[in-house]
Amino acid sequence: MSYSSLVSITDYSKEQMLHILKLAAGFEANPNQDILQGKVAATLFFEPSTRTRLSFETAINRLGGRVIGFSDASTSSSTKGETLKDTIKMVSNYADIIIMRHFLEGAARYATEVTDIPIINAGDGANQHPTQTMLDLYSIQKTQGRLDKLKIVMVGDLKYGRTVHSLLMALMHFSPTFYFIAPEELLMPNEYKLICRENNIPYYEDSVFGPEVIEQADIIYMTRIQKERFTDLVEYEKVKNLYILHNYMLNDSKNNLRILHPLPRVNEISQDVDDNPKAYYFEQARNGLYVRQAIISHALGLV
Ligand code: CP
Repeated sequence: MSYSSLVSITDYSKEQMLHILKLAAGFEANPNQDILQGKVAATLFFEPSTRTRLSFETAINRLGGRVIGFSDASTSSSTKGETLKDTIKMVSNYADIIIMRHFLEGAARYATEVTDIPIINAGDGANQHPTQTMLDLYSIQKTQGRLDKLKIVMVGDLKYGRTVHSLLMALMHFSPTFYFIAPEELLMPNEYKLICRENNIPYYEDSVFGPEVIEQADIIYMTRIQKERFTDLVEYEKVKNLYILHNYMLNDSKNNLRILHPLPRVNEISQDVDDNPKAYYFEQARNGLYVRQAIISHALGLV
């Protein structure tokens, strides 16, 4: 595997994460540069995306690079039966770096085994979304002034939500206290709770999203129920509206609280929250541009 790929958030040490955050702050101050002049990046999206793909493509364009790729795998030769291996090998002939989203867990890791150019995982099934995690960390650091010792409440689909899995792993370095709010069907998987216990990270689990939790939170990380991961839509219907954050629920929350959401939201954050200064999800998505500029430049060894 190329050392500069980013497949899992664990590919970055704590020092590397902090370095990327610092680089991202530099890109936020100056997003238009020529660092990627002469470079071609391929964005291969086998699953739908708005923010991740467009922020990556904007990041590349603003740094003077070129983008090739597809946003809809049905327009690629994978529909003719071409294997992922062959697709990655072909695209490696044309591009300097591949940014890929795939519905199969482990697809990005597999891609690193069949090419020498850097692979950036833009989401693989319910597994990992490490670039989202980096922008989440950037957003947390920017709004809280620190990453250490924060009370982080994760709400919703903690089973299939890859963003919470990656974020949990990254925060292992920063002594958080976690609150996992999910129904029985969508609990944080045991492997992640085991990682918390092994690292002496306290966590609390509840199916109730009530004032006791909201009033002590520094960050509330809302998530969408991942309809596309359910094999039985009757099960999805049972849980789809369990957690909806309304503005009145924030009345007694801490001043420093910020509401994050990787987006897209369906109805888990009421629109009356949008104008609350504690709502940060749109700014969070904007931060993705700077963080992805940092990740690509770092992966190509240019910064
Ligand atoms: N947060 C995120 O991954 O959004 P998209 O699915 O729109 O890329």
